[in-house]
Amino acid sequence: MSAQLRDLPVPLVGAPMAGGPTTDDLVVAVGEAGGLGFLATAYRSAEQIRASIDAVRERGVRRFGANLFVPDAPGAHETDPAGVARYIEALTPWAQAAGVTVPEVPSFSTAEYTTALDVVVDRRVPWVSFTFGLPGPDEVARLHEVDAAVVVTVTTVADAHAAVERGADILWVQGPAAGGHRSTFTVAQTPPEESLDHLLRAIVDSVETPVIAAGGVADGSDVAQLLGLGARAVGIGTLLLRTPEAGTSAPYRRALAAATEPGSPAHTVLTRAFSGRPARGLANRFHHELGHLAPSVFPELNTLTGPIRRAATAADDAEAITLWAGEGFAAARAVPTATVIADLWRAALDHGAAG
Ligand SMILES: Cc1cc2nc3c(=O)[nH]c(=O)nc-3n(C[C@H](O)[C@H](O)[C@H](O)COP(=O)(O)O)c2cc1C
Repeated sequence: MSAQLRDLPVPLVGAPMAGGPTTDDLVVAVGEAGGLGFLATAYRSAEQIRASIDAVRERGVRRFGANLFVPDAPGAHETDPAGVARYIEALTPWAQAAGVTVPEVPSFSTAEYTTALDVVVDRRVPWVSFTFGLPGPDEVARLHEVDAAVVVTVTTVADAHAAVERGADILWVQGPAAGGHRSTFTVAQTPPEESLDHLLRAIVDSVETPVIAAGGVADGSDVAQLLGLGARAVGIGTLLLRTPEAGTSAPYRRALAAATEPGSPAHTVLTRAFSGRPARGLANRFHHELGHLAPSVFPELNTLTGPIRRAATAADDAEAITLWAGEGFAAARAVPTATVIADLWRAALDHGAAG
Protein backbone atom coordinates (compact mmCIF):
# COMPACT_ATOMS: atom_id res chain seq x y z
CA MET A 1 0.00 0.00 0.00
CA SER A 2 1.55 3.28 -1.04
CA ALA A 3 1.94 6.28 1.26
CA GLN A 4 -1.29 8.14 1.95
CA LEU A 5 -1.93 11.85 2.47
CA ARG A 6 -4.57 11.06 5.07
CA ASP A 7 -1.85 9.62 7.32
CA LEU A 8 -0.13 13.01 7.67
CA PRO A 9 -0.39 14.39 11.22
CA VAL A 10 -0.59 17.88 9.69
CA PRO A 11 -1.93 18.22 6.13
CA LEU A 12 0.73 20.70 5.03
CA VAL A 13 3.30 19.88 2.37
CA GLY A 14 6.64 21.63 1.98
CA ALA A 15 7.07 22.26 -1.74
CA PRO A 16 10.17 21.05 -3.53
CA MET A 17 12.26 24.14 -4.32
CA ALA A 18 15.16 23.43 -6.67
CA GLY A 19 18.16 25.70 -7.06
CA GLY A 20 19.08 26.05 -3.40
CA PRO A 21 16.09 26.69 -1.11
CA THR A 22 15.28 23.01 -0.49
CA THR A 23 17.83 21.45 1.84
CA ASP A 24 17.88 18.20 3.76
CA ASP A 25 17.33 20.32 6.89
CA LEU A 26 14.15 21.82 5.43
CA VAL A 27 12.70 18.43 4.47
CA VAL A 28 13.55 17.04 7.92
CA ALA A 29 12.04 20.07 9.69
CA VAL A 30 8.78 19.86 7.72
CA GLY A 31 8.55 16.12 8.48
CA GLU A 32 9.31 16.61 12.18
CA ALA A 33 6.58 19.27 12.32
CA GLY A 34 4.06 16.65 11.12
CA GLY A 35 3.97 17.67 7.46
CA LEU A 36 5.42 16.19 4.29
CA GLY A 37 8.64 17.63 2.86
CA PHE A 38 9.81 17.17 -0.72
CA LEU A 39 13.42 17.00 -1.89
CA ALA A 40 14.14 18.74 -5.19
CA THR A 41 16.21 16.66 -7.61
CA ALA A 42 16.48 19.14 -10.50
CA TYR A 43 20.01 20.35 -11.33
CA ARG A 44 21.50 17.71 -8.97
CA SER A 45 23.68 14.65 -9.58
CA ALA A 46 22.71 11.10 -8.67
CA GLU A 47 25.25 11.17 -5.80
CA GLN A 48 23.77 14.36 -4.37
CA ILE A 49 20.19 13.06 -4.58
CA ARG A 50 21.16 9.73 -3.02
CA ALA A 51 23.01 11.50 -0.20
CA SER A 52 19.98 13.69 0.57
CA ILE A 53 17.58 10.74 0.65
CA ASP A 54 19.89 8.80 2.96
CA ALA A 55 20.50 11.84 5.21
CA VAL A 56 16.78 12.51 5.66
CA ARG A 57 16.17 8.84 6.58
CA GLU A 58 19.18 8.72 8.91
CA ARG A 59 17.66 11.62 10.80
CA GLY A 60 14.56 9.54 11.45
CA VAL A 61 12.19 11.03 8.88
CA ARG A 62 10.33 8.31 6.97
CA ARG A 63 7.66 10.55 5.48
CA PHE A 64 9.14 12.57 2.61
CA GLY A 65 9.06 12.86 -1.14
CA ALA A 66 11.27 13.79 -4.06
CA ASN A 67 10.41 15.89 -7.11
CA LEU A 68 11.61 15.46 -10.70
CA PHE A 69 11.41 17.79 -13.71
CA VAL A 70 10.00 15.87 -16.68
CA PRO A 71 11.95 16.71 -19.84
CA ASP A 72 10.34 17.22 -23.25
CA ALA A 73 10.14 14.12 -25.40
CA PRO A 74 13.31 14.47 -27.55
CA GLY A 75 11.27 14.87 -30.78
CA ALA A 76 9.08 17.56 -29.21
CA HIS A 77 11.88 19.75 -27.88
CA GLU A 78 11.97 23.30 -29.33
CA THR A 79 15.43 24.87 -29.65
CA ASP A 80 14.73 28.20 -31.50
CA PRO A 81 18.40 28.79 -32.46
CA ALA A 82 17.76 32.34 -33.78
CA GLY A 83 15.93 33.37 -30.59
CA VAL A 84 18.67 31.83 -28.45
CA ALA A 85 21.40 33.62 -30.44
CA ARG A 86 19.62 36.97 -29.91
CA TYR A 87 19.27 36.19 -26.21
CA ILE A 88 22.99 35.40 -25.90
CA GLU A 89 23.69 38.84 -27.40
CA ALA A 90 21.42 40.45 -24.81
CA LEU A 91 23.07 38.47 -22.00
CA THR A 92 26.62 39.36 -23.06
CA PRO A 93 26.83 42.84 -21.42
CA TRP A 94 25.46 41.32 -18.20
CA ALA A 95 28.10 38.59 -18.34
CA GLN A 96 30.86 41.13 -19.04
CA ALA A 97 29.75 43.31 -16.13
CA ALA A 98 29.82 40.25 -13.86
CA GLY A 99 33.24 39.10 -15.16
CA VAL A 100 31.92 35.79 -16.53
CA THR A 101 31.21 34.38 -19.98
CA VAL A 102 27.98 33.05 -21.41
CA PRO A 103 28.52 29.29 -21.84
CA GLU A 104 27.97 27.28 -25.02
CA VAL A 105 24.37 26.27 -25.62
CA PRO A 106 24.13 22.81 -24.00
CA SER A 107 22.72 19.96 -26.06
CA PHE A 108 19.34 18.74 -24.93
CA SER A 109 19.44 15.62 -22.79
CA THR A 110 17.03 13.56 -20.72
CA ALA A 111 19.85 11.95 -18.73
CA GLU A 112 19.32 13.99 -15.54
CA TYR A 113 15.71 12.83 -15.38
CA THR A 114 16.33 9.15 -16.03
CA THR A 115 19.20 9.12 -13.54
CA ALA A 116 17.09 10.81 -10.84
CA LEU A 117 14.29 8.35 -11.49
CA ASP A 118 16.65 5.38 -11.06
CA VAL A 119 17.78 6.82 -7.71
CA VAL A 120 14.30 7.42 -6.27
CA VAL A 121 13.18 3.92 -7.34
CA ASP A 122 16.35 2.32 -5.96
CA ARG A 123 16.02 4.20 -2.66
CA ARG A 124 12.25 3.58 -2.46
CA VAL A 125 11.26 7.19 -1.85
CA PRO A 126 7.63 6.96 -0.66
CA TRP A 127 6.26 10.00 -2.57
CA VAL A 128 7.64 10.90 -6.02
CA SER A 129 6.33 14.00 -7.78
CA PHE A 130 6.64 15.07 -11.40
CA THR A 131 6.61 18.62 -12.74
CA PHE A 132 6.37 19.87 -16.37
CA GLY A 133 4.75 16.70 -17.69
CA LEU A 134 3.68 13.12 -17.16
CA PRO A 135 5.94 10.23 -16.22
CA GLY A 136 5.90 7.40 -18.79
CA PRO A 137 3.60 4.42 -18.16
CA ASP A 138 6.58 2.15 -17.50
CA GLU A 139 7.98 4.71 -15.04
CA VAL A 140 4.68 4.79 -13.15
CA ALA A 141 4.75 0.99 -13.06
CA ARG A 142 8.31 0.97 -11.68
CA LEU A 143 7.32 3.37 -8.90
CA HIS A 144 4.21 1.39 -8.03
CA GLU A 145 6.30 -1.76 -7.82
CA VAL A 146 8.27 -0.15 -4.97
CA ASP A 147 5.07 1.16 -3.36
CA ALA A 148 5.74 4.83 -4.14
CA ALA A 149 2.84 7.24 -4.45
CA VAL A 150 3.05 9.00 -7.82
CA VAL A 151 2.28 12.73 -7.64
CA VAL A 152 1.82 14.90 -10.75
CA THR A 153 1.80 18.70 -10.72
CA VAL A 154 -0.99 20.09 -12.91
CA THR A 155 -2.23 23.55 -13.84
CA THR A 156 -5.35 22.62 -15.86
CA VAL A 157 -8.32 20.26 -15.61
CA ALA A 158 -7.26 18.53 -18.84
CA ASP A 159 -3.76 17.86 -17.47
CA ALA A 160 -5.31 16.55 -14.23
CA HIS A 161 -7.38 14.05 -16.23
CA ALA A 162 -4.33 13.01 -18.26
CA ALA A 163 -2.36 12.47 -15.04
CA VAL A 164 -5.12 10.32 -13.53
CA GLU A 165 -5.30 8.29 -16.70
CA ARG A 166 -1.52 7.79 -16.54
CA GLY A 167 -1.88 6.33 -13.03
CA ALA A 168 -1.16 9.30 -10.72
CA ASP A 169 -2.09 8.57 -7.11
CA ILE A 170 -2.11 12.24 -6.08
CA LEU A 171 -2.46 15.52 -7.99
CA TRP A 172 -0.47 18.59 -6.98
CA VAL A 173 -2.80 21.32 -8.24
CA GLN A 174 -0.79 24.48 -8.79
CA GLY A 175 -2.65 27.79 -9.03
CA PRO A 176 -1.48 30.94 -10.84
CA ALA A 177 -0.25 32.72 -7.68
CA ALA A 178 2.42 30.04 -7.06
CA GLY A 179 6.06 30.95 -6.68
CA GLY A 180 8.63 29.38 -9.01
CA HIS A 181 8.05 27.62 -12.31
CA ARG A 182 4.53 27.00 -13.51
CA SER A 183 4.09 23.31 -14.27
CA THR A 184 2.75 23.60 -17.81
CA PHE A 185 3.21 20.40 -19.83
CA THR A 186 4.85 22.27 -22.72
CA VAL A 187 7.49 25.02 -22.50
CA ALA A 188 5.90 27.47 -24.92
CA GLN A 189 2.36 27.51 -23.56
CA THR A 190 1.16 30.52 -21.59
CA PRO A 191 0.30 29.36 -18.07
CA PRO A 192 -3.41 29.45 -17.31
CA GLU A 193 -4.70 32.17 -14.98
CA GLU A 194 -7.76 30.36 -13.69
CA SER A 195 -7.85 30.88 -9.90
CA LEU A 196 -6.71 28.05 -7.65
CA ASP A 197 -10.15 27.85 -5.98
CA HIS A 198 -11.87 27.47 -9.34
CA LEU A 199 -9.35 24.98 -10.71
CA LEU A 200 -9.43 22.92 -7.51
CA ARG A 201 -13.24 22.78 -7.49
CA ALA A 202 -13.33 21.64 -11.13
CA ILE A 203 -10.75 18.93 -10.45
CA VAL A 204 -12.21 17.51 -7.24
CA ASP A 205 -15.64 17.48 -8.89
CA SER A 206 -14.39 15.36 -11.77
CA VAL A 207 -11.81 12.94 -10.30
CA GLU A 208 -11.52 10.90 -7.10
CA THR A 209 -7.74 11.24 -6.89
CA PRO A 210 -6.58 13.07 -3.72
CA VAL A 211 -5.29 16.58 -4.26
CA ILE A 212 -2.57 18.76 -2.75
CA ALA A 213 -3.51 22.39 -3.52
CA ALA A 214 -0.78 25.03 -3.75
CA GLY A 215 -0.05 28.51 -4.95
CA GLY A 216 -0.06 31.81 -3.09
CA VAL A 217 -0.96 30.40 0.33
CA ALA A 218 -0.32 33.11 2.91
CA ASP A 219 -2.32 32.26 6.02
CA GLY A 220 -4.61 29.90 7.89
CA SER A 221 -7.74 31.13 6.14
CA ASP A 222 -6.21 30.15 2.77
CA VAL A 223 -5.45 26.68 4.13
CA ALA A 224 -8.95 26.24 5.61
CA GLN A 225 -10.51 27.46 2.36
CA LEU A 226 -8.55 24.99 0.17
CA LEU A 227 -9.25 22.05 2.50
CA GLY A 228 -12.91 23.09 2.57
CA LEU A 229 -12.97 22.97 -1.23
CA GLY A 230 -11.80 19.36 -1.15
CA ALA A 231 -7.99 19.43 -1.09
CA ARG A 232 -6.56 16.61 1.05
CA ALA A 233 -3.48 18.73 1.88
CA VAL A 234 -2.07 22.18 1.13
CA GLY A 235 1.37 22.91 -0.34
CA ILE A 236 3.54 25.83 0.69
CA GLY A 237 6.77 27.04 -0.86
CA THR A 238 7.28 30.77 -0.43
CA LEU A 239 6.29 30.73 3.26
CA LEU A 240 9.35 28.52 3.94
CA LEU A 241 11.94 30.58 2.04
CA ARG A 242 13.00 32.74 4.98
CA THR A 243 13.29 29.90 7.51
CA PRO A 244 16.79 29.15 8.80
CA GLU A 245 16.50 25.60 7.40
CA ALA A 246 16.03 26.80 3.81
CA GLY A 247 19.07 27.26 1.57
CA THR A 248 17.86 30.63 0.31
CA SER A 249 20.88 32.82 -0.57
CA ALA A 250 21.72 36.02 1.31
CA PRO A 251 20.65 38.49 -1.43
CA TYR A 252 17.44 36.48 -2.02
CA ARG A 253 16.66 36.60 1.73
CA ARG A 254 17.31 40.33 1.80
CA ALA A 255 15.00 40.92 -1.15
CA LEU A 256 12.26 38.89 0.55
CA ALA A 257 12.77 40.72 3.84
CA ALA A 258 12.52 44.10 2.09
CA ALA A 259 9.44 42.93 0.19
CA THR A 260 7.63 42.14 3.45
CA GLU A 261 8.14 45.68 4.82
CA PRO A 262 4.85 47.57 5.02
CA GLY A 263 4.54 49.91 2.04
CA SER A 264 7.13 48.02 -0.03
CA PRO A 265 6.53 48.41 -3.78
CA ALA A 266 7.70 44.81 -4.35
CA HIS A 267 5.47 42.69 -6.56
CA THR A 268 5.74 39.40 -8.39
CA VAL A 269 5.85 38.83 -12.14
CA LEU A 270 5.78 35.79 -14.39
CA THR A 271 9.08 35.74 -16.27
CA ARG A 272 10.98 33.55 -18.74
CA ALA A 273 14.14 35.67 -18.35
CA PHE A 274 16.10 33.19 -16.20
CA SER A 275 15.25 29.74 -17.54
CA GLY A 276 13.08 30.09 -20.64
CA ARG A 277 10.08 28.69 -18.76
CA PRO A 278 7.54 30.97 -17.07
CA ALA A 279 8.16 31.31 -13.34
CA ARG A 280 6.80 33.70 -10.71
CA GLY A 281 9.20 35.80 -8.71
CA LEU A 282 9.82 39.27 -7.32
CA ALA A 283 10.50 41.66 -10.17
CA ASN A 284 14.12 42.76 -10.56
CA ARG A 285 16.32 44.43 -13.20
CA PHE A 286 17.19 41.16 -14.96
CA HIS A 287 13.50 40.50 -15.58
CA HIS A 288 12.74 44.09 -16.59
CA GLU A 289 15.53 44.28 -19.15
CA LEU A 290 15.54 40.72 -20.50
CA GLY A 291 12.14 39.15 -19.82
CA HIS A 292 10.57 40.35 -23.08
CA LEU A 293 13.51 38.95 -25.12
CA ALA A 294 13.67 35.45 -23.63
CA PRO A 295 12.77 32.61 -26.01
CA SER A 296 10.75 29.64 -24.73
CA VAL A 297 13.73 27.28 -24.61
CA PHE A 298 14.14 25.24 -21.43
CA PRO A 299 16.41 24.12 -19.84
CA GLU A 300 19.04 25.64 -22.15
CA LEU A 301 18.35 29.23 -21.03
CA ASN A 302 18.77 28.17 -17.42
CA THR A 303 22.30 27.01 -18.24
CA LEU A 304 23.08 30.17 -20.26
CA THR A 305 22.11 32.50 -17.39
CA GLY A 306 23.79 30.32 -14.73
CA PRO A 307 27.20 32.06 -14.51
CA ILE A 308 25.59 35.51 -14.32
CA ARG A 309 23.26 34.35 -11.55
CA ARG A 310 26.06 32.68 -9.60
CA ALA A 311 28.27 35.78 -9.88
CA ALA A 312 25.40 37.99 -8.70
CA THR A 313 24.79 35.71 -5.72
CA ALA A 314 28.48 35.89 -4.79
CA ALA A 315 28.39 39.69 -5.17
CA ASP A 316 25.25 39.87 -2.98
CA ASP A 317 23.33 41.45 -5.87
CA ALA A 318 19.59 40.67 -6.00
CA GLU A 319 19.09 42.29 -9.42
CA ALA A 320 20.43 39.36 -11.45
CA ILE A 321 19.28 36.30 -9.48
CA THR A 322 16.04 34.36 -9.41
CA LEU A 323 13.78 35.69 -6.67
CA TRP A 324 11.06 33.05 -7.02
CA ALA A 325 8.12 33.96 -4.82
CA GLY A 326 4.38 33.44 -4.84
CA GLU A 327 1.82 36.17 -4.38
CA GLY A 328 1.69 35.45 -0.65
CA PHE A 329 5.32 36.59 -0.22
CA ALA A 330 4.48 39.34 2.30
CA ALA A 331 3.53 36.63 4.83
CA ALA A 332 6.92 34.86 4.66
CA ARG A 333 8.63 35.16 8.06
CA ALA A 334 12.19 34.62 9.22
CA VAL A 335 11.24 32.01 11.84
CA PRO A 336 11.97 28.28 12.16
CA THR A 337 10.11 25.87 9.87
CA ALA A 338 8.49 24.26 12.93
CA THR A 339 6.97 27.65 13.79
CA VAL A 340 5.73 28.28 10.24
CA ILE A 341 4.00 24.87 10.14
CA ALA A 342 2.59 24.97 13.68
CA ASP A 343 1.29 28.56 13.41
CA LEU A 344 -0.21 28.00 9.96
CA TRP A 345 -2.01 24.83 11.02
CA ARG A 346 -3.28 26.39 14.26
CA ALA A 347 -4.63 29.36 12.28
CA ALA A 348 -6.24 26.99 9.76
CA LEU A 349 -7.99 25.17 12.63
CA ASP A 350 -9.14 28.54 13.99
CA HIS A 351 -10.61 29.21 10.56
CA GLY A 352 -12.61 26.00 10.69
CA ALA A 353 -10.29 23.47 9.01
CA ALA A 354 -11.22 19.95 10.09
CA GLY A 355 -8.38 18.65 12.30
C1 LIG B 1 12.06 28.94 -4.89
C2 LIG B 1 11.08 27.99 -5.48
C3 LIG B 1 11.55 26.87 -6.16
C4 LIG B 1 10.64 25.94 -6.69
N1 LIG B 1 11.12 24.80 -7.27
C5 LIG B 1 10.26 23.81 -7.62
C6 LIG B 1 10.75 22.53 -8.02
O1 LIG B 1 11.93 22.25 -8.04
N2 LIG B 1 9.83 21.60 -8.38
C7 LIG B 1 8.47 21.84 -8.33
O2 LIG B 1 7.69 20.97 -8.62
N3 LIG B 1 8.00 23.04 -7.94
C8 LIG B 1 8.85 24.01 -7.57
N4 LIG B 1 8.35 25.21 -7.10
C9 LIG B 1 6.90 25.41 -7.05
C10 LIG B 1 6.31 24.75 -5.80
O3 LIG B 1 6.27 23.36 -5.96
C11 LIG B 1 4.87 25.21 -5.45
O4 LIG B 1 3.99 24.89 -6.50
C12 LIG B 1 4.80 26.67 -5.11
O5 LIG B 1 5.85 27.03 -4.29
C13 LIG B 1 3.51 26.97 -4.38
O6 LIG B 1 3.28 28.35 -4.30
P1 LIG B 1 3.81 29.29 -3.11
O7 LIG B 1 5.26 29.47 -3.34
O8 LIG B 1 3.04 30.55 -3.33
O9 LIG B 1 3.51 28.60 -1.81
C14 LIG B 1 9.24 26.16 -6.58
C15 LIG B 1 8.78 27.30 -5.89
C16 LIG B 1 9.69 28.20 -5.35
C17 LIG B 1 9.14 29.39 -4.59
